[in-house]
Amino acid sequence: MLKGRNLVSPDDLSVEELYELMDLARDIIKSPDDYSNVCKNKILGTLFFEPSTRTRLSFESAMLRLGGQVIGFSEAASSSTAKGESLIDTIRTVGSYADILAMRNPKEGSAMLASEYTYVPLINAGDGGHYHPTQTLTDLLTIIENKGTFENLNIGLCGDLKFGRTVHSLLKTMNKFKGNKFYLISPDELRIPSYVMELTFEDGADNFVEVERLEEVIHDLDILYMTRVQKERFFNEADYVRLKDSYILGPEKMSMAKDDMIVLHPLPRVNEIEVAVDSDPRAKYFEQVKNGMYVRMALIMKLLGVCK
Ligand code: CP
Repeated sequence: MLKGRNLVSPDDLSVEELYELMDLARDIIKSPDDYSNVCKNKILGTLFFEPSTRTRLSFESAMLRLGGQVIGFSEAASSSTAKGESLIDTIRTVGSYADILAMRNPKEGSAMLASEYTYVPLINAGDGGHYHPTQTLTDLLTIIENKGTFENLNIGLCGDLKFGRTVHSLLKTMNKFKGNKFYLISPDELRIPSYVMELTFEDGADNFVEVERLEEVIHDLDILYMTRVQKERFFNEADYVRLKDSYILGPEKMSMAKDDMIVLHPLPRVNEIEVAVDSDPRAKYFEQVKNGMYVRMALIMKLLGVCK
C-alpha cells in the first residue's frame, strides 16, 4: 500500500510496487480519459530549488491531467528561502496548502530531511548527486515498453557515474531484478562512488564490470544509458572541460551495437549523443520524456490513494 508514503530513495519501493506502478502507468497510456478527474480537488506543491524542465513540468502536467491543480516555485530565489527560511519550515508551509509535494534540492540528503517533517506525501525529484527515484520510474516504464522485461538484461551506464543521481537510482533498482549485468563505463575520475557500490552490490557480486571505453562493450548491451557530465557539481571548471566530452555517441558507435539495443538518456543532453542518433529507431530518450509524465501520474495516484 503506497497511500500516504514518501518516495525519497529507490529502496522505498518494492519490486511488487514497481510492477504495480508500471501496470497503472500503462493503463493510463491506454485509456487517459478514464483518469482525467481522479485528482479533482487535490493540489500538488512543486518545490524546485534547482533548475528543471522535464521533472517539474511532467509532475505539473501529470497533476493537471488527473484533474488536480498545482502550486509551487521553480527557483529558491522566488520563495522565502531567499529571506533565510529553513527547508523544514518551507516544507511544513507548502504542505499546509497542498496534498502532495515534489521537491528538487541541490543538497544530498535534503529529501530525507524533508520527509521527516512533511505533513503530506513527499516525492524526491532529485537531491544533489544522490538519488532521483522518479527518473528511475521513467526509465523503467521505457524499458518494460521496449524490452518487455526487467530481467536478464545487459545494461551499460555511461558517462558521469560519480555525480549522476539518475545512474545511482537506476543501478540500485535494476539490481533488484534477477539476471541483470551492469557495464559501468566512465573515466576513472567519474566512477560510481564507493558508497553507492556498497549499498547496491553484495560482497563478491560478479554481475558488474567497470570499463573506460564504450567501444569495448557496446556490442554486448541490451540497454545503453548515456548521461551528461554534471557541470554544476564540479568544484573546478578545468576538470569539467577536460572530462565533458569523454563519450560522444554517434552513428559509427551505434553501428557496433545490437539491432535491438535501446539508447536511454535522462536528458538534458549536451554533447554526449549526436543529433544524428535521434532518428535511429533504437533511440528512446524522447519516448522516455513522455513516459515520465505517465509514470508520475501513476505515482501521484498511488501516494494519494485515489483510484479511477
Ligand atoms: N531528467 C531530468 O531530471 O531532467 P530535468 O533536469 O530537466 O528535470
